[in-house]
Amino acid sequence: MSTGITPTTDAASVKAAWKEFIVPAAAPYYKDPLVLVEGSGSTVIDAEGHEYLDFFCGILTTGIGHCHPEVVERIREQVGRLGHTSTLYLTEPMVNAARRLASIAPGNLRKTFFTNSGSEAVETAIAMARMYTGRDEIITLRYAYAGRTALGTSITAMSAWTPLGSSVSFVKHALSPYCYRCAFGPPHDHCAERYAKDVEEVIATMTSGKPAAFFAETIQGAGGYIVPPQGYFQRVAEIIRKAGGLFIVDEVQAGFGRTGSKWFGIEHWGVEPDIMVMAKTVANGMPLGATIARDDIAAAWKGKTISTFGGNAIATTAMDATLEVMQRENVPARSEERGRQLRAGLDRLAQRFEWIGEVRGMGLMQALELVEDKKTKEPSPKKAGALLEAAKEERLLIGTGGLNGHVIRIAPQMLMTEADIADGLERLERACKKVK
Ligand SMILES: Cc1ncc(COP(=O)(O)O)c(C=O)c1O
Repeated sequence: MSTGITPTTDAASVKAAWKEFIVPAAAPYYKDPLVLVEGSGSTVIDAEGHEYLDFFCGILTTGIGHCHPEVVERIREQVGRLGHTSTLYLTEPMVNAARRLASIAPGNLRKTFFTNSGSEAVETAIAMARMYTGRDEIITLRYAYAGRTALGTSITAMSAWTPLGSSVSFVKHALSPYCYRCAFGPPHDHCAERYAKDVEEVIATMTSGKPAAFFAETIQGAGGYIVPPQGYFQRVAEIIRKAGGLFIVDEVQAGFGRTGSKWFGIEHWGVEPDIMVMAKTVANGMPLGATIARDDIAAAWKGKTISTFGGNAIATTAMDATLEVMQRENVPARSEERGRQLRAGLDRLAQRFEWIGEVRGMGLMQALELVEDKKTKEPSPKKAGALLEAAKEERLLIGTGGLNGHVIRIAPQMLMTEADIADGLERLERACKKVK
């Protein structure tokens, strides 16, 4: 569908300039990349004036929709009043955003350090744990994604994302509780305990026995929305705390109502983390990362620290405005309801198309794992690529993920209407029919 908008951007020249001036590894989706010029709520518009329904939100980031008017207005007002100060001076937006975050964060998490990205927020969490415990070793999970710093790529455990390998030697990887591709044989009724035992074994065999922390995403996002079984995090928290380490969760993708009914993914497991990391949807697309910790952990930071842009008035205004809208609209409840609708539609597709091996996820964070054959479960990056392109033809944006790029990731904005979810499911079904 064309919107009738006169394009102001020349798509061909943008694509040519991309080739000439941008590092090729930061590659866009699609054989013919999309040049986007506008966004509003659930849709974006490309340079040719085509409108797309966005089921991926710029990688789970515009969580309350593109250019939410209240967020835009608050940013506009702030940027005209006071833009940059650095953390050497106090601003009201910074403390407002931190106070609001503390009001929804689980347990005793209260003190926030602001950064500009999820990667830096991960770095901050690990530094906090090392200073608090006086230890170094970190236990994390295979299939993790934790960003692009040296530590982030060392925690990340998918080789496509780590061409330089793991440079930080104190990071050790336990098995991912990836039930669709279970590392253990049947019966599968004690998998939470079995996977948690692997964490215990990694501590016993690959560390000094004195780890600083366990660090994991509550749902492994880039890994393909891998949801650990009930009981898993409860046991892991017991294990790491018994060994004297902290329990840290990365809510960069799963946070802020995305998983439905709760503000943060970890709350579904009923575990209170010691430190929590977030970014992406926290400021609805403004660059902001945050690490929140217990008072005593935050107080253990030794020496000075600064982030020139971290906690800047514009990004924290965006965060405060985003969280205000989320609280007023009760985003966790909306995510749960719309998530149920989305999941039912995806389950129907899985019954119809042989190559959809599994549907999984929580709330408005749902994935399709694509396989060549349901019995062999051979991953099918080919089908995922074909579905991504076919969905684009249907003017629907979705994402990919998984170790082999064979998982389709879906994450619509959390204020999306019932009609838009239904529309997106119809587009997705038409796209599935085109996949050979
Ligand atoms: C779970 C998780 N942690 C950390 C990061 C790193 O965030 P950023 O790209 O903002 O540095 C990401 C990014 O995708 C992520 O998905």
